[in-house]
Amino acid sequence: MNKNTLLLVSHPDFSKSKINKALAEIASQKPNIIVRHLDEIQKENRYFLEEEFALLKSVSSIIWQFPIYWYNAPASLRNWQDQILSPIVYGPENFLMGKKLRVVCSAGAAENTFSSTGLNRFTAEQMLCPMQMTTNACRMEWQKPFITYGASTITEEQIQEVAKKYSTLLDQNSL
Ligand SMILES: Cc1cc2nc3c(=O)[nH]c(=O)nc-3n(C[C@H](O)[C@H](O)[C@H](O)COP(=O)(O)O)c2cc1C
Repeated sequence: MNKNTLLLVSHPDFSKSKINKALAEIASQKPNIIVRHLDEIQKENRYFLEEEFALLKSVSSIIWQFPIYWYNAPASLRNWQDQILSPIVYGPENFLMGKKLRVVCSAGAAENTFSSTGLNRFTAEQMLCPMQMTTNACRMEWQKPFITYGASTITEEQIQEVAKKYSTLLDQNSL
């Protein structure tokens, strides 16, 4: 099967991860998905641009998967965005144009904390607004984010439920 989706996992402590490990494992079983662990790939915080460009050119869908760290992505994804996107978007050919981009993230806090009246004051979609704006600036197509809340206290049973939903989404959308 054609590898049409690039899944970039950003997690500085992946060996201790629960939910992101489970979701990356599900994705790695799909024949159309290339799974890359950004924290393993970067060397002294730098990416090898030509390798990243070649992979991006080869797919139609990109997934950014990460645990929310301080209302943002961990450093390896932020580094990737800073180093990879600008030369493409401001370069001679924006080959990202038209590709689909989905955020798959986990938040330690419970879902009800993400509202105008909750502890976090904003919804998770509002929190992801810079990534949606980045997607728009790259002329990619923003897909509905797949968000797991309460990840700090998630049970094994809940992980299995989330993983099942994620597997179905990956099959349905080929993203
Ligand atoms: C440095 C750091 C910052 C974090 N910031 C947030 C945050 O802003 N909001 C939140 O809901 N959870 C936050 N968390 C909790 C993580 O999102 C949570 O541990 C993670 O989603 C669990 O996923 P995992 O099982 O794959 O590690 C933070 C955790 C760490 C270590």
